[in-house]
Amino acid sequence: MAKKRIFSGMRPTGKLHLGHLVGALTNWTKLQEEYECFFMIADWHALMSEYENPAELKANMLDNAIDWLSCGIDPEKSAIFIQSQVPQHLELSFILSLITPLGLLERCPTYKEQLRQVDNRDLSTYAFLGYPVLQAADILLYKADGVPVGEDQLPHLELTRQIVRKFNHLYKTECFPEPKALLAQTTRLLGLDGRKMSKSYNNYISLSDAPEIIRKKVQGMFTDPERIRVTDCGHPDKCSVFSYYAAFSSHFKQKVHDRCTKGAIGCTECKKELAALLVDLLMPIQEKRQALEKDKKYIYEILSAGKQKALLVAEKTIAQVRELLKI
Ligand code: TRP
Ligand code: SF4
Repeated sequence: MAKKRIFSGMRPTGKLHLGHLVGALTNWTKLQEEYECFFMIADWHALMSEYENPAELKANMLDNAIDWLSCGIDPEKSAIFIQSQVPQHLELSFILSLITPLGLLERCPTYKEQLRQVDNRDLSTYAFLGYPVLQAADILLYKADGVPVGEDQLPHLELTRQIVRKFNHLYKTECFPEPKALLAQTTRLLGLDGRKMSKSYNNYISLSDAPEIIRKKVQGMFTDPERIRVTDCGHPDKCSVFSYYAAFSSHFKQKVHDRCTKGAIGCTECKKELAALLVDLLMPIQEKRQALEKDKKYIYEILSAGKQKALLVAEKTIAQVRELLKI
């Protein structure tokens, strides 16, 4: 039987951080062992918010590809490619927009939230409203069965499924399968300050932070606010530091939990140990990055091979869709 197909993507917003490793990349590297995988750098999606300032886009895309490869995405197993290099994404996006009710997009919670939260860019554009339509096209072009994403993307997956049902019904076809969201199993990492880890809060540890930066960031991390003296019993579940142990080491997770709740370890020491663990974890990733940064030609070759693999599938799907639409 043919392998099931997995599709996912990321907007190229710069170097990745630990949240991406835990929330996406660790999961992707596992999936590629079992499934046929397509991983896409979503430059059109990035432009929907960065259209006024595209200067960094190219460098960010390269950084993205390097981070993926450094974290273990294997180009022999997975296709890595750039969205704008496969023109069928826009073609299918337009076709899907024919049948997507405006109300669905206007009511989409991610859309409403972004419009409310983002105040340094004008997002009241035609393209930005259609963000989930292009995302649906990304997924459907490859007829993906599974889409590994974070919780924040669930509304887009649901919209994709609604579009699939409508398309298949209207054109009396089973052209598109309904894709399933695959949520990562791990606990969510908190930011250094206890809020959600996010680029815009500047509260993250980058995959390429040097050891001394990691140590400094970990020392400044938010801990259980009720813990004042070393001997106070702590509440690890209210502590950013603990969320890292929980995500990265099942061995230390239990140990730290016990010592913290019994007041048997001080926060300074606990943080020192975490910093050491993170430095060790990131060392092989950073070594790989350094080697890849010296070989840009190799990265471009991988992206070009990925594009060829993607085109093969994309052309077939579009031919089928054009036929259904009598064009
Ligand atoms: N919207 C996704 C994000 O911001 C990126 C993305 C674009 C994507 N196209 C996709 C994710 C298709 C999954 C499938 O993270
Ligand atoms: Fe957090 Fe560790 Fe301090 Fe407990 S001992 S509150 S887990 S830093």
